[in-house]
Amino acid sequence: MTETILKVEGATRRFGGLVAVNAVSFEIGKGMACGLIGPNGAGKSTMFDLITGVRPVSAGDIWFKGQRMTNAPAHARSPMGMARTFQIVRLFRGLSVLENVMLGLHPRFADGIIRALLGGKARAAQETATRARAMEMLDFVGLADRADARIEEMTLGQLRLVDIARALALGPDLLMLDEPAAGLNDAETDNLGVMLERLRKQGLSMLLVEHDVDFIMNACDRIVVMDRGTKIADDVPARVRTDPKVISAYIGQRAAHAAH
Ligand SMILES: Nc1ncnc2c1ncn2[C@@H]1O[C@H](COP(=O)(O)OP(=O)(O)O)[C@@H](O)[C@H]1O
Ligand SMILES: [Mg+2]
Repeated sequence: MTETILKVEGATRRFGGLVAVNAVSFEIGKGMACGLIGPNGAGKSTMFDLITGVRPVSAGDIWFKGQRMTNAPAHARSPMGMARTFQIVRLFRGLSVLENVMLGLHPRFADGIIRALLGGKARAAQETATRARAMEMLDFVGLADRADARIEEMTLGQLRLVDIARALALGPDLLMLDEPAAGLNDAETDNLGVMLERLRKQGLSMLLVEHDVDFIMNACDRIVVMDRGTKIADDVPARVRTDPKVISAYIGQRAAHAAH
């Protein structure tokens, strides 16, 4: 039996009268890549927020590495080994690509810049180590040659890779990616797929929220499907792909779009 890294137990989130996430349970085994899919409004982003602690659950529990995290704030969860990327990339304009990854590695690097000006051998040594680690991550995502470029000069595809480098710099046990392929062109999506495959081979546990069904089917060992707040499937990609409940949820979405 594989060790469980993340356990979501009856997670529920209400927004007034609306139940955005309705008693959803699933587990991610260590080293597994788990996908979370579902039509618009299914509750995927809310689920992501419940796991990362951006929003509290209305009911249920979140366990991470055997510890109950249900009431832990977001800033307490990331040092435990959870790292996430954002659907809308949040990077600092005016700083270089390398500096952005360094910020991810060391959240207090920002005031570190000021303190570094004051000198201090320890601080200098720490900054050297931080820089080396950040460069290693940029090299991993294939952007080492863009380290000194400013964030404004990067394409969306490159920004997503910088964000992944930033998340990886923390050395997470669970990497959570929120729609990493959104807005990418075909070449960038392929490149992202190759990178995720490398991380998966290295045994990194992952949770991917994604709209692109083909992309997620290739990238994951298991897929959890949500529809209107409820989990409707939880299986290997091949079986999820042919599940009548999943197919009708997606067809229902298309019909709803067509009616608009
Ligand atoms: N902050 C919020 N306040 C009220 N309703 C929300 C809020 N966030 C999400 N919802 C609602 O919860 C449901 C699930 O949304 P969401 O988790 O964003 O779905 P998905 O990411 O699968 O598209 C939707 O009906 C959405 O309108
Ligand atoms: Mg969403």
